[in-house]
Amino acid sequence: GAPVKADISKLEPGQMIVVEWRGKPVYVLHRTESQLADLDKLTAELKDPDSSISTQPDYISGVERAIRPAILVAEGLCTHLGCAPKFRPEVGAADLGGDEWLGGFFCPCHGSKFDLSGRVYSGVPASTNLVIPPYSYESDAVLVIG
Ligand code: FES
Repeated sequence: GAPVKADISKLEPGQMIVVEWRGKPVYVLHRTESQLADLDKLTAELKDPDSSISTQPDYISGVERAIRPAILVAEGLCTHLGCAPKFRPEVGAADLGGDEWLGGFFCPCHGSKFDLSGRVYSGVPASTNLVIPPYSYESDAVLVIG
């Protein structure tokens, strides 16, 4: 399939858009400074904090799992059975663990939880992190997926 371009010049910190690529939703999230700072706090609660068993391109590494640290680009498909996880950025959400919840994605089908890098929490059905698709930047404003 052909690559898909998305203009992210108006994507403000805290905002997410969904881009369709090869029939799949791809979440593009501009993370805030505090959301980025929180990524280091979760290691003990994640199944694959370093993404060593999860799917991502070779040029992706680190807790941000992104080319530009602030911008997460991840397939919006739960790695359990493929439902679309919901974007739940509210720190401390009562239904997602209260004080333990630092924002992330919640799959309504069977309750899998992912952080704001798409890394899966322990104690849920999904066992790997959200997939990072191949992508690049044509310019500061234009993201190319595929
Ligand atoms: Fe997401 Fe089962 S499909 S938890």
